[in-house]
Order: sequence, then C-alpha cells, then structure tokens
Amino acid sequence: MSEHSANPSSATAASGRPRAVKAVIPAAGLATRFLPATKAVPKELLPVVDRPVLQYIVEEATQAGIGDVLLITGRGKTSMVDHFDRRPDLEERLAKKPELLAAVKRTEELAAIYTCRQPEQLGLGHAVGFAESHVGDAPFAVLLGDEFVKPAEPLLPAMLELQARTGGVVLAFFEVDAAETSRYGIASVEPAEAELSDIGEVVRVTGMVEKPKPEDAPSNLAVLGRYVLPGTIFDAIRRTEPGSGGEIQLTDAMELLRNEGTPVHAIVYRGTRYDTGMPLGYLQTVVQIASERDDLGAEFRKWLAEFVNSDASGGPNT
Ligand code: G1P
Repeated sequence: MSEHSANPSSATAASGRPRAVKAVIPAAGLATRFLPATKAVPKELLPVVDRPVLQYIVEEATQAGIGDVLLITGRGKTSMVDHFDRRPDLEERLAKKPELLAAVKRTEELAAIYTCRQPEQLGLGHAVGFAESHVGDAPFAVLLGDEFVKPAEPLLPAMLELQARTGGVVLAFFEVDAAETSRYGIASVEPAEAELSDIGEVVRVTGMVEKPKPEDAPSNLAVLGRYVLPGTIFDAIRRTEPGSGGEIQLTDAMELLRNEGTPVHAIVYRGTRYDTGMPLGYLQTVVQIASERDDLGAEFRKWLAEFVNSDASGGPNT
C-alpha cells in the first residue's frame, strides 16, 4: 500500500483543490461490549500496550498531515480530552526520566484537540453532523474511534489525495467474509477512472447499504472507519431519516449525495487494520502490536509461542 500513497507534504492535489486539513473523531458511544470496564473509562482510552487506542488514531491523522482534530464526545468521556492536555505536575516529576517525559509530552504536542458534545447517541451520521460549525464547508476526514491501521501501511494520505482530485466522497474498503456483512456498510463498485490509478487500488462506488444481511449484500467490500467528506455531507445528514438500527447512518447520508450526483470513490485497503471495537479484536490488536514492539516484542513473542504450545492454553492441537 505504501508505495501507492500520495505524498502528504503537498497540500494541494493535481486538480488544484486543497486537501482536507481537519479530522473528526466520533467517540460518544457507550461501548456496551466492554462493560463493566467502560462504565467509567471510555473505550477509546483502553490501552494497547502503553498508549490508549485514541492516541493511535490521532497519530494516524497527524502522520497524514492533519493537525486539527475534533473529538465528538459524550457524557462521562471527558478523560479522553484530558489525555491530550498538559500535565505540568507530571512533567516536573519526570524531569530525570527523559524517555517517559518525552512520551507524556508527545500526547500534548500531537495535535490541536477540539471537542464538542453529542448529547444523545442517535447514530454515526448524527454524530458527524455536530462537526459542522468546526469544519464549515471545507472537506474533512472522519476517523472512527475504535479502529486504526498499521503506521507502516498508511491509508489516509492516499484518501486525502483522492478527495482533493475528485471533490467528492472518499471511502476505504476492506474485504470481509460473506457472513460478516451485517456488521458493516457494504458497497457495490465499478472500475474507477484511469487517471486515478496512480493513487492506489481505486474503485468507483455505485451503491452503499448499511449492515445488510449476507443474502442482501451487494459485495464483500466493507466500509473501513476512515472517510474524507465534502462539506455538503452536513446538509445530506439533515435530510437523512433513521435507518439501520433506527439510527441516522452516515452511509445513508453518503448514499443520498451519491444519488444526487456527488462522485463516491474508495481505496481498497490491503494493509493491516486493527479493530478494537469488540473484545476479540481488541485482544488481537494488543497481541499484534506488543509482538512488533522493539522494546518488548522479542520477549513477548517467545512467551506467546511457549504459551500457545502449553497445556495452559489448551495445547497446540486443540
Ligand atoms: C460503522 C459504520 C459502518 C462501517 C463500520 C466500520 O459501523 O456505520 O458503515 O463499516 O463503522 O467499522 P459501527 O461499527 O459503528 O456499527
């Protein structure tokens, strides 16, 4: 994927349109799948080794050149904002521990963090709608708060480039098993215009549906939690009726724009996607990231191999 990625340092695409420079992270959800852990701790702050999930997501945005991040939060989730705030008391105590001090300061210096509240959780589309006064009519990125991609296999730079070229909606897809379509937005596609092929594996979207049953799914291409949207999405959200699960769905608002002539393209992402939205995916993410860490990866992998082969894990053949 990375060889296809556009250069994030150029702010304007070949079309002359500016790239999106702001990101929105909807993070107001209740995270019932992680209760009771998420009764007092937002799921976005669950640690993956020594950084909360949310930090990986903000780092993904900043790595793509986005330094302005709006967190859409909800009741009881203010600690998400605290994570990116300064802690002079802590800094003072860490004066003689430069590595820890740098790790703490990094969270403060990553990006300019803004917040707003979604008072009721009425769906992803509804949450994104709260970003309007912050982003205005410029294009912007949306990063869902419980998934991220491997930093060495970035996705956002190519999406930002694609949106600046088309001016429309830009998505990313990954392939899922047919049985899993009812967990995602699913799209039907056709080949994209030839002049977009230098950006990566780009397709043009011909239809989208939120969480279809396998028998109704138009393909096995699932919407990944990264979007680059034009400012017209806000008006479309206002015109979107509740859909799947009785919620105002972003997928439905994007489909409304597509039906009215807005081009919708997507990059098929074949890199590594970490999904921390459910306990199993969260555990897999922790194990994968821990295994790759320079500081503890070797020791952890050795232990993991021994554990998998031991009676304690049920043995190698079960
Ligand atoms: C959301 C979107 C869905 C997308 C998914 C990706 O669903 O509505 O279209 O495929 O994120 O993770 P959620 O996971 O919030 O139910």
